[in-house]
Amino acid sequence: GDEEDLAARPPVVTVMGHVDHGKTKLLDALRSANVVAKEAGGITQHIGAYQVATEVDGSERRITFIDTPGHEAFTAMRARGAQATDIAVLVVAADDGVMPQTVEALNHAKAADVPIVVAVNKIDKPEADPAKVRGQLTEYGLVPEEYGGDTMFVDVSAKSELNLEGLLEAIVLTADASLDLRANPDQDAQGLVVEAHLDRGRGPVATVLVQRGTLRVGDSLVAGPAYGRVRAMLDEYGENIEEADPSRPAMVLGLTAVPGAGQNFIVVEDDRMARQIAEKREARERAAMQAKRRV
Ligand code: GTP
Ligand code: NA
Ligand code: MG
Repeated sequence: GDEEDLAARPPVVTVMGHVDHGKTKLLDALRSANVVAKEAGGITQHIGAYQVATEVDGSERRITFIDTPGHEAFTAMRARGAQATDIAVLVVAADDGVMPQTVEALNHAKAADVPIVVAVNKIDKPEADPAKVRGQLTEYGLVPEEYGGDTMFVDVSAKSELNLEGLLEAIVLTADASLDLRANPDQDAQGLVVEAHLDRGRGPVATVLVQRGTLRVGDSLVAGPAYGRVRAMLDEYGENIEEADPSRPAMVLGLTAVPGAGQNFIVVEDDRMARQIAEKREARERAAMQAKRRV
């Protein structure tokens, strides 16, 4: 048969949890530990997805993180995030404990059949009660390893940068224990739009996650109703990159419009093909909308 050439890829980790439990702060802390090593006086910019590198048992391991908002209005985004994800990190503030969006997030992860690592955050706070968080989550079926269950709980402080390595290690161990993460890098890229916005100077800017294949500068792509040729790509440090392999997030410049978060992208043969597909999609969407209005 025609066996595909699959290569190991980093795990894609979605960080979920209740509002203000510290998801973004934790990702910033994980990245800044990394930035110190790589950045040469550049400007760090916030993007909703990036890769960090860590060392486990003497070898370098990469992990891709995707941030999600905790506010209840973003339920759909969390559901989509869980679908694109290999591992969910559930962030629970140790002073606040389990809250409604904590439960909602863990239900999305369970529905997507994704392993969960619990990051018990804010343990620097005097009122932190990490044991209580363990007890609460046990009631939802997330039983800590130290209680004989199979969920890893890691106590961290994003603010004090406490035990971030422990969290990275737990993620790598979880990936190695339960997942076989491979993808073919030698095909036209496909993936997901993580977030997108209109930048004054640069036009539409989309942060995409490559799921299969390799995305290259010069490729023509379609993302929902948006299309275009990749003019430039930036990594999480704002540095230009020429290509992005599976599990790599990248900021893409050159699209004609702003695609929606959660939409898929594909690379196609050329600009013309990209435009045709995008226009067909738009026409289909318009027709569907008119049909809806008629009923
Ligand atoms: P949403 O995206 O709105 O759901 O919030 P979030 O989960 O991303 O929380 P965010 O990172 O914005 O942090 C919320 C607040 O908690 C901020 O004021 C942070 O500085 C604070 N915070 C985050 N982590 C820690 C921590 O480890 N310790 C303490 N003391 N404060 C923290
Ligand atoms: Na917040
Ligand atoms: Mg946040």
